[in-house]
Amino acid sequence: MSNEVWRLARKPLAGWPVADDFRWQVEDMPEPALGQMLTRTIYLSLDPYQWGRRRSGAEQPGDICHGRTVSEVVQSRMDTYAEGDIVFNTNGWQAWGLTGVNIDAFGYMFPRKIDPDLAPISTAIGVMGMLGLTAYAGLVVQCEPKPGETLVVSAASGGVGQVVCQLGRLYGCRVVAIAGSDEKLEYLKTLGVDTAVSHRSPSFAAELRQACPDGCDIYFENVGGAVFDGVLPLLNVHSRISLCGLISQYGNEEGQDPRSLWRTHGNAVFERNRVAVHDLFVGNFVAEHQDRFLEEMGGYLRAGDIRYLEDKRPGLENTPEVFAQMLRGENFGKTLMAVAQDPTVNH
Ligand SMILES: NC(=O)c1ccc[n+]([C@@H]2O[C@H](COP(=O)([O-])OP(=O)(O)OC[C@H]3O[C@@H](n4cnc5c(N)ncnc54)[C@H](OP(=O)(O)O)[C@@H]3O)[C@@H](O)[C@H]2O)c1
Repeated sequence: MSNEVWRLARKPLAGWPVADDFRWQVEDMPEPALGQMLTRTIYLSLDPYQWGRRRSGAEQPGDICHGRTVSEVVQSRMDTYAEGDIVFNTNGWQAWGLTGVNIDAFGYMFPRKIDPDLAPISTAIGVMGMLGLTAYAGLVVQCEPKPGETLVVSAASGGVGQVVCQLGRLYGCRVVAIAGSDEKLEYLKTLGVDTAVSHRSPSFAAELRQACPDGCDIYFENVGGAVFDGVLPLLNVHSRISLCGLISQYGNEEGQDPRSLWRTHGNAVFERNRVAVHDLFVGNFVAEHQDRFLEEMGGYLRAGDIRYLEDKRPGLENTPEVFAQMLRGENFGKTLMAVAQDPTVNH
């Protein structure tokens, strides 16, 4: 048996990914050493930050493309895992991978066993994983939502955004969702948001103003650019922002720091209205909040209080194209590759 692997082919240029950025290879099956296990990738998460790693050089040409995965243990030489266990790990863009001693877990993405009875296993790279925790940390921990406040969420139908919208509703906020297609706006209304606005509309800023008659108390920032321009004049005195991501800027030329440009752009309004801006990095919340978060979110999912839309695409070989589509907004829900058959689902 052999392994199938996507490696980074070169340091990517500005803009969005193209085929020449990646190289498909058939390679020898990895052999687990003592303290390691071999796992088969079932689901692979595609996330905007992966493009940032490639653009910045954190991932080097020749490296296996990084990605969080849900996998099945096939051979274990670790005391804590057995054959057949389902795990969260970081196999990356490959069909099989090693986990354990001397294998990089990317700091805070430490492997863990997944209980298939708690939630569908794919959610361990979505709402029951880093993306759900990102939404929770930014909205609940950083911005402390109160009933009646207006919450504005950008990239609202995506992996993080859809969770923010629903948590906002559960915490009693009036939720204004921003997304890029009619289909996405309709979906967001079924999740219980109060208003949904398209950032592609020529009258986006006016429509957003109309959707926020009492201004904006909390802004969950996923996008930056023209969307941020629309939100800035609506920020109330003592409003709060969780600066989660700036996806509209991820294809920029090298040498620009989107976060500091974003801060400079908003600074006059931030100072005048004493806006609290919280930089969000989910890795800072794992140790203290992940266990409690998983318990709370598991309860919401089982009760049907939170729903989670996944955009599952088949075939590891299609990964680069789907990755580019996600960055361009051609995804609908949390984007993931279905790499191998899910043993917990009846086919
Ligand atoms: N701080 C952290 O620790 C952390 C952790 C996880 C994620 N993030 C950030 O959270 C954000 C969302 O990530 P995700 O994984 O949930 O991705 P996602 O929302 O599922 O997918 C990206 C979405 O961004 C929107 N988008 C792309 N270009 C845009 C543009 N120019 N203007 C407006 N919208 C645009 C598209 O939606 P539309 O069709 O609606 O335009 C697209 O579907 C990203 O910025 C990511 O970097 C941060």
